[in-house]
Amino acid sequence: MHKKIVVAYSGGLDTSVMVKWLNQNYNAEIITVTGNLGQKSELEGLEEKAKATGAVKSYIYDLQEEFIKNYAFKALKAGALYEGQYPLATAIGRPLLAKLMVDVAKTEGADTVAHGCTGKGNDQVRFEVAFKSLGPDLKILAPLRTWEFKSREQEIDYAVTHNIPIKITKKSPYSIDENLWGIAIECGVLEDPKVSPPDDAYQITSSPKSAPDASEVVEIEFFEGTPVAVNGKKLSAVEIMNTLNPIGGKHGIGRMDLIENRVVGIKSREVYEAPGAILLHKAHHELEKLVLDKETFRFKQDVSNKVANMIYEGLWFTPLFDSLMTFVDATQKPVTGKIKLDLYKGNATVFSRESQYSLYSELLATYTEEDTFNHKDSEGFINIYGLPYKTMSGIYNKANEGK
Ligand code: ARG
Repeated sequence: MHKKIVVAYSGGLDTSVMVKWLNQNYNAEIITVTGNLGQKSELEGLEEKAKATGAVKSYIYDLQEEFIKNYAFKALKAGALYEGQYPLATAIGRPLLAKLMVDVAKTEGADTVAHGCTGKGNDQVRFEVAFKSLGPDLKILAPLRTWEFKSREQEIDYAVTHNIPIKITKKSPYSIDENLWGIAIECGVLEDPKVSPPDDAYQITSSPKSAPDASEVVEIEFFEGTPVAVNGKKLSAVEIMNTLNPIGGKHGIGRMDLIENRVVGIKSREVYEAPGAILLHKAHHELEKLVLDKETFRFKQDVSNKVANMIYEGLWFTPLFDSLMTFVDATQKPVTGKIKLDLYKGNATVFSRESQYSLYSELLATYTEEDTFNHKDSEGFINIYGLPYKTMSGIYNKANEGK
């Protein structure tokens, strides 16, 4: 018997049907929770809608600044791109929503949380692992894994029978998950990897082919690894995304058509758009190349990959993740400076770099007479560095003599 259930609610068909279904099947009070992470879908009227569907309470929180500042920018500092490309927009949002739900469950005295993820995606894993870490005593329900509905039509029938207010709009052929860090587009023709994404699949980027013929330079400033200004203007985390997403989108930056490995073992075809996140990753990486010493830079590449895998697989609230982020933060002290990127038809190339912590020394790098590098030192260095191979070849040649 569940007395109170806290439900992750978007107001779409699945979660609307779920509110009523839980209410009926568990005879429980339903409290809906919605986080605004910058999705463009309708948040207005959501509270009334939740209540009309049978919820006793409905919370909507604007989490945009927290999401970008404390979640997305953390992943940025870590250089976290899943399988080298996906900036993890959906994956980064889940731990924050889960945390919000656990907080609401605690204040409301609810013993159960529920989400509307399907049984073969990554999001169920991300939600539930976070619930286990943050609220180990909470019971978890995932109705979509068990309920009787086999199709969208059956859900619509149920909604009509139970007077659930749903907007029957012409259904987009795609399933879209959106926040300020990026958009994931799935389903429809995209399920066939032989088919190239139709132009209407993309929501916020222009095709590089129809992007402006003139390139555009954008300057991004970082302080200790965190983006703080665009084109010389100090901005909040949300403002940075709301500035970079349209600029990058206009030039066709940040489109990705990927095959990826899901947690549950299947491969899926995913189309993403993340113009702002991709610009930030490019600029941040470029700045790190300038300011990090060689060993830190190399070691951090391995950490980036590990952190990306952990975020993807729902391991945000774990001790190893915290430890790795402590390492990441320690590396970011000198990541302060300005990077200019030149945007042109789907590409962002570096235009200029500058930092007071730049380790680039013109006097050491130059091939002019200003050169201060001691060329003679190299001879002794290479003699010792190459010694194992000189020794080995000598010995092998002798051993093979006469064979
Ligand atoms: N494949 C991506 C991920 O696992 C995107 C998932 C999109 N989620 C969604 N509910 N449509 O992070």
